[in-house]
Amino acid sequence: MKILLVGSGGREHALARALVAGTTHELYCAPGNAGTAALGKNLNLDQNDGEAIAAWAADNQVELVVIGPEAPLIAGVGDAVRAAGIPVFGPTAAAARLEGSKAFAKEIMAEAGVATAECFPCRTMDEVARALTAFQPPYVVKNDGLAAGKGVVVTDDISAARAHAEACLASAGGAVVIEDYLEGPEVSLFCISDGKTVVPLEPAQDYKRALDNNEGPNTGGMGAYSPLPWLPSGFVNEVVRDVAQPVIDTMAKRGTPFVGLLYCGLVQTASGIKVIEFNARFGDPETQVVLPRLETPLAEVIYAAAIGELDTVPTLEWSTQAAVGVVVAAEGYPSEPTLGGKIGGIAEAEMIEGVQVIIAGAKEDENRKLVVSGGRVLCVCALGDTVPDARAKAYEAVDRITLRRSHHRNDIASGI
Ligand code: AMP
Ligand code: GLY
Repeated sequence: MKILLVGSGGREHALARALVAGTTHELYCAPGNAGTAALGKNLNLDQNDGEAIAAWAADNQVELVVIGPEAPLIAGVGDAVRAAGIPVFGPTAAAARLEGSKAFAKEIMAEAGVATAECFPCRTMDEVARALTAFQPPYVVKNDGLAAGKGVVVTDDISAARAHAEACLASAGGAVVIEDYLEGPEVSLFCISDGKTVVPLEPAQDYKRALDNNEGPNTGGMGAYSPLPWLPSGFVNEVVRDVAQPVIDTMAKRGTPFVGLLYCGLVQTASGIKVIEFNARFGDPETQVVLPRLETPLAEVIYAAAIGELDTVPTLEWSTQAAVGVVVAAEGYPSEPTLGGKIGGIAEAEMIEGVQVIIAGAKEDENRKLVVSGGRVLCVCALGDTVPDARAKAYEAVDRITLRRSHHRNDIASGI
């Protein structure tokens, strides 16, 4: 099958690996990165230019388009490709609002009867002041629009909460959401859907804060592991029954079916599972630890979703191995990453059995040397028989990476 993958991050490198591993599929990436270049052909196309992507796919007999990041989904790239009659894994712009607008996601959850944090959408500082008095600290203040996981401030300090709300009101969308703090471990569950049927992948846990012990600012994600041995056995079925399927059914009933990856960001609270957020795409870096454990070929499953036949797919097969991924970030990430630093040691890291280095914010310079081009530079992933095994290998591999003043968390998957 000829597949066109849209995006250029670590998630797309991980997706590219899973799409081609053990198959004869022909892969093209728009625009891809230094990692995807080794697995297929990178194309000089703007990931948000739906017309250009649809035209290239049509001219080159592409059979499946897979959209990685949220920006092209919200920009309607999926709609443009669908209009050209090509199967797409990734929702329409209307369905991607589940991620693009927190207020919309709350409206869908209310309609679908899905448990989530109580919240107040605000458009003025008066509304913000009223909302903040309704809750106890810690305060949760979220930009209503897209913010790549960085638009949220969780703080005990009411003046910091006010300041972030003010910044959100001044930003593009001009709206902020203030909500109840959900206490408990966070879980990411990816659910594949064709708009009707839901097929869950195995859960993962992401580490969102920049520093050890969950300190520092929120980031896109500093590391992840899968599976989560501490979860109760019925967890996945419960999320499908109480969260994913009701949301998929509500979206279909509204005439905006969701075809693609519904990322359920959940908290296991003392009073049951509650939703923190939905994303309309695979998570980064969770994808890097979930997909290497999937033994069923990914392309077959997501093609079935794209053509509306997910109910024909046999039960997914999973490796019993665990995976741990540690993000190596550039100096200054998440606020102001320093770009251009030289990266070494990838081949040495990959000499450790079970280790794969996923490329995210890195590109080849004019001398074909790998240099930093983004905040999260690499995700060093390892498979092992248990979580502690995979963790030991991942950190041994991280030690072999050379990048001046890079930083990473030391506590990914610790204590599991
Ligand atoms: P979001 O952009 O909504 O995913 O939020 C980013 C991160 O902020 C989440 O992964 C949580 O760690 C934290 N967060 C967001 N909302 C809440 C909440 N209501 N209660 C506790 N933590 C939250
Ligand atoms: N790892 C969180 C996200 O992809 O949004």
